[in-house]
Amino acid sequence: MSDTPEITPQAVQDAVDAALAAIASAADTAELKAARSAHQGDGSPLAALNARMRDVPKEHKAEFGKLVGQARGAVTQALAAREAELAEAETAARLEAERIDITAVPSRTRVGARHPLSLLQEQISDIFVGMGWEIAEGPELEHEWFNFDALNFDVDHPARQMQDTFFVDPVDRHLVMRTHTSPVQVRSMLERELPIYVLCPGRVYRTDEFDATHLPVFTQFEGLVIDKGITMAHLKGTLDHAARVLFGPEAKTRFRANYFPFTEPSAELDLWHPTFKGGARWIEWGGCGMVNPNVLRAAGIDPDVYSGFAFGMGIERTLMFRSDVQDMRDMAEGDVRFSEQFGMVV
Ligand code: PHE
Repeated sequence: MSDTPEITPQAVQDAVDAALAAIASAADTAELKAARSAHQGDGSPLAALNARMRDVPKEHKAEFGKLVGQARGAVTQALAAREAELAEAETAARLEAERIDITAVPSRTRVGARHPLSLLQEQISDIFVGMGWEIAEGPELEHEWFNFDALNFDVDHPARQMQDTFFVDPVDRHLVMRTHTSPVQVRSMLERELPIYVLCPGRVYRTDEFDATHLPVFTQFEGLVIDKGITMAHLKGTLDHAARVLFGPEAKTRFRANYFPFTEPSAELDLWHPTFKGGARWIEWGGCGMVNPNVLRAAGIDPDVYSGFAFGMGIERTLMFRSDVQDMRDMAEGDVRFSEQFGMVV
């Protein structure tokens, strides 16, 4: 023990100062642990000074014992204080890192849903685009000539009357809200090169009631094909295909004789709906026929070279019996809860 320092007030003070400095600069509990073993442990200067106590003459033992005891007490206290401080800081840091603000205002933004009419319109369009057809559009505010005259309607055809058609002021401009998508047939024949394979979906207007099965504004999809050698068999095959895609492999269509000014022959089109809610049955789906030669002529197409077919169906009606919607007004009212039932397909 001869190499251990002499117990002097200065030696004790130096050991305490070194210990307090190390404790104060310990940045975390690991560093504090190292400071504790260096300045309080067995090999520390204070422990060495303490060991020298036995060499101190009896009459000085009390004095030096007090000096070393106070020094060790000061170091122990400093260690405890710094330990508490660091523990508190480390807990605070961990809590901050794990913080969840339970008072945060939840987001009330609703994702919404696409309208089922838009979805069905796109699905129908896809069927025809898949067969190489193009999508054609026309204006909803239409010239009377496209809506009626070019489609071979007589000047006194009842559909022209005020009770069916929205005529737009001033009446002498002959503008109407189109009553069907058939004027897009004429526009397509005038604008496009032959042959023509187009699907024309869009909104139409009639002075109908607003009730469970009628809307004054509704949507149709119109098909038009003009090519050489087109027959009613092509029409039937096309419609059967569309029916199967939309209503399943058992679905099919049938024709019943009917009259439209712009088709000849014309047919009422029925759909065999194999999965109808109330049981499989025939349902009226729309109108169709072979394009009337008068319409071809109005569009400058030679009916001796070209022939074609056309069909038109209501999308609201289709949605009603395809998805079992009881009231058409639900499709017009814009309540997102209605749309959400059809899923989030984009
Ligand atoms: N435009 C007719 C309607 O709205 C439907 C139709 C379209 C009929 C094409 C024949 C051919 O009732």
